[in-house]
Amino acid sequence: MSAPNKSYDPVEVEALKPEAIERMRDDALAAIAAAGDLEALTHVKTAHAGGGSPLALANREIGALPPQAKAEAGKRVGQARGAVNKALATRQAELEAERDARVLVEEAVDVTLPYDRRPAGARHPLTTLSERIEDIFTAMGYEVAEGPEVESDWFNFDALNFPPDHPARETQDTFFVAGPEGSGGTSQAGGSGGGTSQAGGSGGGTSQAGGSGGESGVVLRTHTSPVQIRALLERELPVYVIAPGRVYRSDELDATHTPVFSQVELLAVDEGLTMADLKGTLDHMVVSLFGEGMTTRLRPNHFPFTEPSAEMDMLCYVCRGESVGNPDRPCRTCSSEGWIELGGCGVVNPRVLVACGVDPEKYSGFAFGFGIERMLMFRHNVEDMRDIVEGDVRFTLPFGMEI
Ligand code: PHE
Repeated sequence: MSAPNKSYDPVEVEALKPEAIERMRDDALAAIAAAGDLEALTHVKTAHAGGGSPLALANREIGALPPQAKAEAGKRVGQARGAVNKALATRQAELEAERDARVLVEEAVDVTLPYDRRPAGARHPLTTLSERIEDIFTAMGYEVAEGPEVESDWFNFDALNFPPDHPARETQDTFFVAGPEGSGGTSQAGGSGGGTSQAGGSGGGTSQAGGSGGESGVVLRTHTSPVQIRALLERELPVYVIAPGRVYRSDELDATHTPVFSQVELLAVDEGLTMADLKGTLDHMVVSLFGEGMTTRLRPNHFPFTEPSAEMDMLCYVCRGESVGNPDRPCRTCSSEGWIELGGCGVVNPRVLVACGVDPEKYSGFAFGFGIERMLMFRHNVEDMRDIVEGDVRFTLPFGMEI
């Protein structure tokens, strides 16, 4: 900036000549108008309105003018700078509005378009079939009963009248969680973790287990029959329960076996129940599951907890028995035998009733149990049991979302 200079002629200051100011202003206005976006406008602003811009430099020259010239030059520069600032602000607003409009178009999301849904999966057919079986019986007045999968062997074997040397107690059939050796009986059962504390949690049952067995190991239940015992100990008579659940046996996984499978067990204990009630109940179940005309037959068998005991077969749901003695119409499903083995059943052994404090002179009952995987294989033509347990959604999806 120059120092005041009295002999200085304002018209001699090139930068403050009216034409010069006008040109600076017009250059600025043209550049502002030409700025195509906000970034360009920022550069224009620095160049034409910043501290180093021609108008700012001219403004500084005013101080060097003689006093009589200052006012006029100041007014001229001030007006030019005012016009430039106003144009900048207007252009800024225009460009911002343009940008906002463009962003709205470019980044628009059509919320009505179908979106990329995550697959919903499907309920496992074991679950839906198990619920379907429960429905058949709850409609008849049965209640659903449950018990722990890690079970005291008193519930799994002793109370069900298994003799101490019964082969089912062998390790090749049963997974033992804790044996009866060492610290005795109930205290051991109580000490070995979550499952056992479930077993221990059932009050009367455990004291009974401790009382009658003395020593008790802990197993993964090999069948749902211990739920019979729990139901009889915990419920008021008469008892009508259905107990679905997972059971464990030390089998290899193959097309027809799995070490973890599901059973449904039914127990009815009331006054005057007979084998005829069992047969009628079984027939009702197979008709409900496979349709009119289905029936069951019983073949003698042995279970420690039922007497008499029977193996239950159902009529072949494919040929309905018509392949028997009919070589023209062989049936692959039942190998032309007309019947398919379903599970075990019988009249509750009075010794089981006594173990549960039920008077066998007054009450009698029946029970049956079968594997749900096998039933699923029949109903849906599943050829390999591994498909049921492996958890591949390609197996479960075709069953849909039956609720
Ligand atoms: N618990 C027997 C089993 O697992 C089945 C069964 C249940 C048999 C009830 C008779 C009565 O094989």
